Amino acid sequence: MTGSDGKGTGVGGEASPGVNAERLDGVSGLARRVEVRLGAGRTYPVVVGRGLLDELGSHVPLPGSVRRALVVSQPPVLAAGHVDPVEAVLLGAGIEVTRHLVPDGEPAKAVDVLAGIWRAAAAVPLTRDDLVVAVGGGVVGDLAGFAAATYGRGIAVLQVPTTLLAQVDAAIGGKTGINLPEGKNLVGAFHQPIAVVCDVNTLATLPARILVEGFGEIVKYGLIHDHLVLERLEQGTPLVQGDDLSVLEELVARSADAKARIVGADEREAGVRAYLNFGHTYGHALETLTGYGEVLHGEAVAIGMVVALRVGERLGHTPLELVTRGERLLAHLGLPVRGPRLDREAVWQVMARDKKAGPDRVRFVVLDGIAAPRVITPTRSDVDAVLDDLGA
Ligand SMILES: NC(=O)c1ccc[n+]([C@@H]2O[C@H](COP(=O)([O-])OP(=O)(O)OC[C@H]3O[C@@H](n4cnc5c(N)ncnc54)[C@H](O)[C@@H]3O)[C@@H](O)[C@H]2O)c1
Ligand SMILES: [Zn+2]
Repeated sequence: MTGSDGKGTGVGGEASPGVNAERLDGVSGLARRVEVRLGAGRTYPVVVGRGLLDELGSHVPLPGSVRRALVVSQPPVLAAGHVDPVEAVLLGAGIEVTRHLVPDGEPAKAVDVLAGIWRAAAAVPLTRDDLVVAVGGGVVGDLAGFAAATYGRGIAVLQVPTTLLAQVDAAIGGKTGINLPEGKNLVGAFHQPIAVVCDVNTLATLPARILVEGFGEIVKYGLIHDHLVLERLEQGTPLVQGDDLSVLEELVARSADAKARIVGADEREAGVRAYLNFGHTYGHALETLTGYGEVLHGEAVAIGMVVALRVGERLGHTPLELVTRGERLLAHLGLPVRGPRLDREAVWQVMARDKKAGPDRVRFVVLDGIAAPRVITPTRSDVDAVLDDLGA
């Protein structure tokens, strides 16, 4: 049996991406707003634009009950100047602000660092009417989001993502969590933010490799949901060189819209949200086996998408032209399309931890075409044949 839940994202994406988005007049300039529609008063906005941090309050509704805010960030984000404007807006709204910096990097997603945030919140003290504000990449978002999910049995969190990966992916959708020595993201909660504010200007201070990594997830949205994203990426070469961030802003907005739609259709990953795992089956095994950090997440996803495109092609789903097009685009963006050679048995062990696929099979998201994903369960020999071809 293949195609466990059929074809297409089923969230109205192909025909009308961007219909969800409207342009808003901010105090200075325009912002785009998409909504994560969760029903029962839980819908929240994702606002995308340039220069939003200085006028945060005009873009997101800060609940009137908020008296105090704990702003969680990391030293490089502070040094890049992205924390001060957020704090200034909160102070201007009459909110008492406490800053809490956590160490940089993935190791910050740890129990002791989490406990440090809880204790900082208790020292303020934050009440259940107050607010946690996460300013940073996916590490800060996951960690501060989980702190907010658990402190006081859950208080509001505002996500202010400052990496490309966090703006298009990590900050949207409510997944929060930390790592254990036994594995990544093993402890966590679904805790939706009150809003997500993506100021594309913050991306100008990112190290090049971390910016490029984020394009891996954007290519994913192009392939599983929105052909215009692919076309934009193929057109624009120097996407972020110089001062023109308008193409990047559009790509972030369209990607955020794709994620918002998919999450809105399937908050807890019972169906279409699984399509977001395109490129992640092999990508995750690659990250696990190389030790997190050597290959960045977006780079592992790029390599994983090549594997998924080729598995789809081998099994008669994906047209060869799409495989070629995808690989060419990833390489053009400066992303890797081949990974290091890995122990094949170990790769299979990591991928096969997903027991739902059945014995000697693994679940893969593949493409019937652009914006036409499906879940299949190829055999080990099919996957191995693809990895042999790739020398992986
Ligand atoms: N919750 C989800 O749905 C989800 C989805 C994808 C990834 N994630 C998680 O996200 C994490 C990775 O996030 P990431 O890729 O953003 O990495 P990251 O948060 O570690 O940020 C990368 C680096 O960039 C720095 N930085 C952040 N913004 C900056 C800026 N504007 N200017 C200069 N430096 C800046 C950070 O301090 C850090 O050194 C992983 O832990 C992953 O598990 C979560
Ligand atoms: Zn990812």
